[in-house]
Amino acid sequence: MKKILIATEKPFAKEAVENIENIGKNAGYEVIKLEKYTTKEQLLEAVASVDAMIIRSDIADKDVLTAAKNLKIVVRAGAGFDNIDLAAATENNIVAMNTPGQNSNAVAELAFAMMLYSARGGFDGKTGTELRDKTLGIHAYGNVGKYVAQIAKGFGMKLYAFDPFIKDSDIEADGIIPVHSVEDLYRNCQYVSLHIPANDKTKKSINKNLMGLMPKNAVLVNTARKEVIDEDGLIAIMCERPDFKYLSDIAPECAHIFEEKFPNRYVFTPKKMGAQTEEANINAGIAAVNQIIAFFEKGDVKFKVN
Ligand code: 3PG
Repeated sequence: MKKILIATEKPFAKEAVENIENIGKNAGYEVIKLEKYTTKEQLLEAVASVDAMIIRSDIADKDVLTAAKNLKIVVRAGAGFDNIDLAAATENNIVAMNTPGQNSNAVAELAFAMMLYSARGGFDGKTGTELRDKTLGIHAYGNVGKYVAQIAKGFGMKLYAFDPFIKDSDIEADGIIPVHSVEDLYRNCQYVSLHIPANDKTKKSINKNLMGLMPKNAVLVNTARKEVIDEDGLIAIMCERPDFKYLSDIAPECAHIFEEKFPNRYVFTPKKMGAQTEEANINAGIAAVNQIIAFFEKGDVKFKVN
């Protein structure tokens, strides 16, 4: 009987796990759990004998993938796969997949939760501001960006998007103004919501020059990855521009400087919270186990990323 390991340092909701277990069991697989683990050794031990693995932001590096002697497939239940060493996966004949779109609405809703919380001054009793009529730039118009746009329309925001991989006509069809350079997006928009992946090209790409283009009372919203921000540039902008705010799903490395120097100008989640809803966990978890079964039973590699 093939074994599927669910390795989640940040566990899925109970119902999501039950769904994964039932689907796996009914298809003739054994489902094993390693939840809330605290050391890499625990993961190395757990992967040693399994055929498939479902992870979230868990690190599947060379050590893990090499220790997993029987592993044929690792599925990142979520969008970003920057936590998987793809070269090591390929070297070890392991297929790596993600489950695009399955947790996108949850991430988009969190972007608005942070925007509203910040616009109302953290509910401190003082006068805040509204989102209506404000400009919002969507940096990358993928699965999350599209949900962000849908929600933003409900708030009456004016929408712009930058995505070189999507046709203008598709962006316009959604009632959004396409812009053709990242600089134009930042120049036009008081709010910018980031939805780019973290890779060699994008890491530290959101730099001081770009942030400096944003108009007065700028708010940069990062539900993507902290690594895409040039943190030195961010600190410099926060120092130069007392009107600039930064909202991020998971604190940046320089969070202590924010605490000291920029009170009330940031919102940071204590853990990565974007996809942390029951619905997102269920959607992504079920997609992951189904992709594993389809891979073993039919050789389906539709969502392969390596
Ligand atoms: C993703 O890439 O799908 C999100 O960042 C969610 O990450 P998580 O599963 O660790 O919450």
